[in-house]
Amino acid sequence: MRGHPLIYFDNAATTQKPRAVIEALHSYYEHDNANVHRGLHELSSRATEAYESSRQRVANYLGAVSADEIVFTRGTTESINLVAQAWGGKFLRAGDVVLLTEMEHHSNLVPWQLLAERIGARLRFVPVRDDGTLALEQLEQLLTPEVKLFAFTHVSNSLGTINPVAELCRKARAVGALTLVDAAQSAGHLSVDVQELGCDFLAFSGHKMCGPTGIGALYGRAEILNALPPWHGGGEMIVSVTLEKSSFKKAPHRFEAGTPNIAGAIGLAAAIDYIEQIGRPAIFEHDARLTSYAIERFAELPGTRILGPGVDPTLRTAKRLQEERGAIVGFVMKAAHPHDLTTFADRRGLALRGGHHCNQPLMRRFGLPGTTRASFYFYNTTEEIDRMIEILREAARFFG
Ligand SMILES: Cc1ncc(COP(=O)(O)O)c(C=O)c1O
Repeated sequence: MRGHPLIYFDNAATTQKPRAVIEALHSYYEHDNANVHRGLHELSSRATEAYESSRQRVANYLGAVSADEIVFTRGTTESINLVAQAWGGKFLRAGDVVLLTEMEHHSNLVPWQLLAERIGARLRFVPVRDDGTLALEQLEQLLTPEVKLFAFTHVSNSLGTINPVAELCRKARAVGALTLVDAAQSAGHLSVDVQELGCDFLAFSGHKMCGPTGIGALYGRAEILNALPPWHGGGEMIVSVTLEKSSFKKAPHRFEAGTPNIAGAIGLAAAIDYIEQIGRPAIFEHDARLTSYAIERFAELPGTRILGPGVDPTLRTAKRLQEERGAIVGFVMKAAHPHDLTTFADRRGLALRGGHHCNQPLMRRFGLPGTTRASFYFYNTTEEIDRMIEILREAARFFG
């Protein structure tokens, strides 16, 4: 890359794709391509079988009770919009509250703003502490019976914070609120079991976990999904149609109008197979090792501050760091704006991301225009982190 070996530290935006995933897409298009569900010919049966077994693969991966609890979507953003429109449109009333947190990605914020405006509902936010964790001591005041849904991220894409999902779901359930977990940054990195977590909805994107772009899923508890109206109308999702009226299939097909992303679902199943061969505990351990190493090495850089938990060396233990922080290191360097730093790094083959990371309210909370972010995955190494530190030291001299 620009005459240097590529170091890809932009995994929170999207990961690279294993050959097995690319080959699964290739093989589907070359040997089995047809539309699903509608055809009575061999190719269509094969495509349908592959598409529906991918759904089962996702269900197993998330610990869902049944494949009927998995709706294929374009990704996290579309999954959250589905819940906001289908569930919110039917069950939310004026004055009801949706509880969010200050660390939400815009995709777990804007759909709720649109819904709240349309219905006259209110939004409330769990604040973020200076150390990048949620102010859980305020939860009791915030989680009142007016809260109908608590939607929050599992792992923050800017701070790296791992939120205590099971505890948050338990507390929400105690006041009768449903829960939606944004697993965009966790599904490919740590074990995510919807029954253990006790959530009602969970959203993730395939492309952040070795899969293709344009595919992801929404998990929804069966009785809740089946109580929701469709949100998009069209073919594939109906039982019968007259000129005036239609009746709809059960979940999940009622939410999948039109020709779905068949190849994407097949590629996602291949990505899941790949991840499970390595094992999520091993990936998580590797993440923790890289993150801990990066945090230690960053301490050598003058005028640099890392956001998020586990940074204070007096409080840091390997165990705490692993419990509290995913493989994301967002930082600010006094000497340079994140965009300049990212461009400087790019010239040396290092892919970082600079900006607000779709977290504008969170950046405002920390009084920053943005940060520079390094995010790791299982194919990254400590040697690459050494090289990053070298490049950043060079940048500090150059801009300073
Ligand atoms: C925490 C979080 N939520 C949601 C999203 C949106 O994911 P997508 O763009 O794949 O829908 C992202 C993407 O960066 C994210 O990091």
